[in-house]
Amino acid sequence: MSKPSPSSISPEAAFGLATPYRDVTCGELRAADAGREVRVSGWVHRRRDYGGLHFIDLRDRYGLTQIVFNEAEAPEAAEIAARVRNEFVLEVRGIVALRLDGTANAKLATGDIEVKAASVTVLSESETPPFYINEPDAPVDENLRLRYRYLDIRRRPMVERLMLRSRMVQAIRECHHRAGFIEIETPILLKSTPEGARDFIVPSRLQPGSVYALPQSPQQLKQLLMVAGMDRYFQIARCFRDEDLRGDRQPEFTQLDLEMSFVDEQRVMDFVEAMILEVSKSVVPDRQIQQVPFPRIDYHEAMERYGSDKPDIRFGLELVDLAPSITALPGRGEGLTGFRVFDEALAAGGRVKAIAAPGMADSSRSQIDELVGFARRFGAKGLAHVSVGADGAGASPIAKFLGEDGIAAIVKAAAAVAGDLILIVADADHDVVADVLGRLRQELGLRLGLADENVLAYCWVYHFPMYHWDAEKSRWDATHNPFSGVVPEDVELLVTESGDPYAPSHQDPAGRARAMQYDVALNGWELGGGSVRIHKRELLERSFALQGYSLEQMHERFGGILEAFDYGAPPHGGIAMGIDRWAALLTHQTNIREVMAFPKTQSGADPMLGAPSEPEPEQYSELGLRFVGVQSSSTPVKPQ
Ligand code: AMO
Ligand code: AMP
Repeated sequence: MSKPSPSSISPEAAFGLATPYRDVTCGELRAADAGREVRVSGWVHRRRDYGGLHFIDLRDRYGLTQIVFNEAEAPEAAEIAARVRNEFVLEVRGIVALRLDGTANAKLATGDIEVKAASVTVLSESETPPFYINEPDAPVDENLRLRYRYLDIRRRPMVERLMLRSRMVQAIRECHHRAGFIEIETPILLKSTPEGARDFIVPSRLQPGSVYALPQSPQQLKQLLMVAGMDRYFQIARCFRDEDLRGDRQPEFTQLDLEMSFVDEQRVMDFVEAMILEVSKSVVPDRQIQQVPFPRIDYHEAMERYGSDKPDIRFGLELVDLAPSITALPGRGEGLTGFRVFDEALAAGGRVKAIAAPGMADSSRSQIDELVGFARRFGAKGLAHVSVGADGAGASPIAKFLGEDGIAAIVKAAAAVAGDLILIVADADHDVVADVLGRLRQELGLRLGLADENVLAYCWVYHFPMYHWDAEKSRWDATHNPFSGVVPEDVELLVTESGDPYAPSHQDPAGRARAMQYDVALNGWELGGGSVRIHKRELLERSFALQGYSLEQMHERFGGILEAFDYGAPPHGGIAMGIDRWAALLTHQTNIREVMAFPKTQSGADPMLGAPSEPEPEQYSELGLRFVGVQSSSTPVKPQ
């Protein structure tokens, strides 16, 4: 084409997949197409030569099509086919033919046919790729995959995951549009929006010495959109958090962020649950959803039963409180167990709790040591165990302290049966007991195969504590979101002992206040979190004061939203869900990198484009910056 001319094709054709290089994709020819003359383009996936015949599997995003080059019928094409190598890009013209009897490939959608090539054009040549693209299960070094991500994405599992993610986002958008939401973009160059991580900052050229912060979430803007009367907003929002990476965390990630006006907790959860169900059914119809409606579990109950605020409820293995049974035995002092470690924990207001792991009673010494190591890593001072023998009786090294009746009481309390290994943690701090046993529970649930891979176990956890005490900074910190509302009955708790709202103390009743906060968990991961917000200025100021902000700091950081609340803010609430985490769980992945096209490595780098990199000298001068070295070990500022 020398010069574009006015369109001469129908909209249907314009929307179709045919292009000047192809009539069909590599995934669409079937037996009924036999005899058709077609053009098809794609990458050389695999090639085989048999005497005068050359077979090439041609690949694109849509699938694979077998092309046959016959030296006797199309010598020129066959001669080219004999020279091409994997990953060359070809355009082939030929005739669709049924494969010979017995050579059809039932595993391939196009497996009934092949294209007999009449001619071929090499559109692009390729070096030998650094790893096999046509062997999806071959293990490849993670850094190599990210260094050549464009090749990694050619591999079928990546293609499928990215396509699933796209369908997921499409289904999300459809649900929201149907429910009257409007999609609104909020800025990336912003001011700090606290979500508990460090900000990424961008120096301003027009205002030297000032910086933008990239949003950790669009929290304040979506609340302002509610004040603006938008009623229902959503966004597939990119968020940035400078925190340590883990399998479920990236510095740059995507949230489904939404906010609704004139709602209570129930209304938001009802919409979100219906939306999650619809998206799950449309994207992974074969996965079983454990329970509908989703269980709604009070935060304290979740911590008691699962030791986690994001419980994996695909299996039981629940935490059991041993204290009532082992402190009521005869022959010990009032409320005592006879075992110093347990007695000290209980005397200090702590807990003694256990889980009973099925089939682990015959664990070896080194297997037990490994579990003890695991428990210690997460803060336990020790981990006691009781193995339940074939006769149902417990045996334990701590029997010498607790007595046989003590061990029997533990077996009974834990409802343990023959073959169980009861694991016990005692600590003065209930959070330690819950956290360690919660992690052990999750780890053993997976190791023992108690969690059905096919099941999607969504659940809600609600009424989180609004604040936890930050002893270092001497203030209350929002456990989740500083803008969250407090359960109406608990609003009167938002006062300080001293009576001075700006002088919070550990004793304040605020520590007991519950937030109108709800998280949605899926198979042991936190998938999303949200709340009904405070929409009154006076109350928000009171809450910020407890969080250690002076009136001045409050206005400096949150002046915009505080002022907006003077102009008629509707009651509102919302949630944000991690799209990357959701897509990972729907595709059986344990790392969200697997569902992101261009994720960062563990050290926050992009080895393909070489980011982060040092600024150009003129960028330093334009921005008025000078690199003075790393100021403290906890704040790495030198570009890598
Ligand atoms: P929150 O901080 O809980 O809430 O974030 C919501 C969800 O975002 C996902 N997420 C992440 N995913 C990948 N990498 C990360 N580093 C990362 N951090 C968070 C999680 C999480 O559940 N503004 C509030 C929401 C609200 O109250 O409406 C917020 O951002 O899946
Ligand atoms: P000790 O008397 O400290 O040697 O501990 C005796 C047994 O109690 C060992 O099996 C320890 O692992 C276990 N143990 C110690 N501390 C704790 C604890 N905090 N919780 C549970 N078990 C513990």
